[in-house]
Amino acid sequence: MVIGIYDSGVGGLSVWRELRRYTNARLLYFGDTCHVPYGEKSPEQLETYFWEIVGFFQTQGCQSVVVACNTSSALVLPRVRDRVGIPVFGIIESAVQAAVAVSGGRVGVLATRGTAESGVYQTMFRTIYPQGQVFVQSAPRLVPLIEAGQITAQVTRDALKEYLAPLVGRGVDTLVLGCTHYPFLQELLVDLLGPDVRIVDPAPSLALHVTEELPLEPAEMGPRGAGTGFWVSGDPTTFQETAERLLQEKLPTVQCHPMSGERA
Ligand code: DGL
Repeated sequence: MVIGIYDSGVGGLSVWRELRRYTNARLLYFGDTCHVPYGEKSPEQLETYFWEIVGFFQTQGCQSVVVACNTSSALVLPRVRDRVGIPVFGIIESAVQAAVAVSGGRVGVLATRGTAESGVYQTMFRTIYPQGQVFVQSAPRLVPLIEAGQITAQVTRDALKEYLAPLVGRGVDTLVLGCTHYPFLQELLVDLLGPDVRIVDPAPSLALHVTEELPLEPAEMGPRGAGTGFWVSGDPTTFQETAERLLQEKLPTVQCHPMSGERA
């Protein structure tokens, strides 16, 4: 089994690092860096990228796809799910399930503009957790800062503080990281939120769900086996440097697969 994982850039690596804890199936990571940030794109644009990336994955032998991106999970998957011929996994439901498991009833969600405005978190929380209250805040400046590797910079701290303020003001007891880039801000988040707010990274819950749902061979159930191929649509060197800094490990050489259509 080969599993394709994609995001606009480095964010989906927060899902990739969890997925490889559960499976030693071969993984293929695609960062659509020539189109980052996805949070500012229309559903139509994101759907075009989705089909092109799924097509690329299929040429590389992938038999399933993990959309390691909240924005595409929110805006694309409802449009395409019935038309993809292979299993495809989104992150939103796993995020909500993970939050419900720990929340005291007041949940904040930090997300991209596209995800926040889609209303998908609000709707799913109402369905799964009607007794809880959910507050969604968009944070459009964070993804470009994380893509630039600025995970502890003052400018990032200031932006995060500004975006968290309305959620803190609502008295949230749980914060869902509703964008796969945000787990790389864990240090700042803990510092700004203090010990009383539970921070939910949905990646472990999604990784577990994917490995439970896929028909993996027993030999594919252990951690870190066949390795990962890394591809991006933009500059591979920039991605490699930032990814290695965020993950604090060496990665195999990142390759470029250009995307057709417009550039960011
Ligand atoms: N990391 C993605 C998400 O979870 C995309 C963020 C972006 O490119 O704006 O939404």
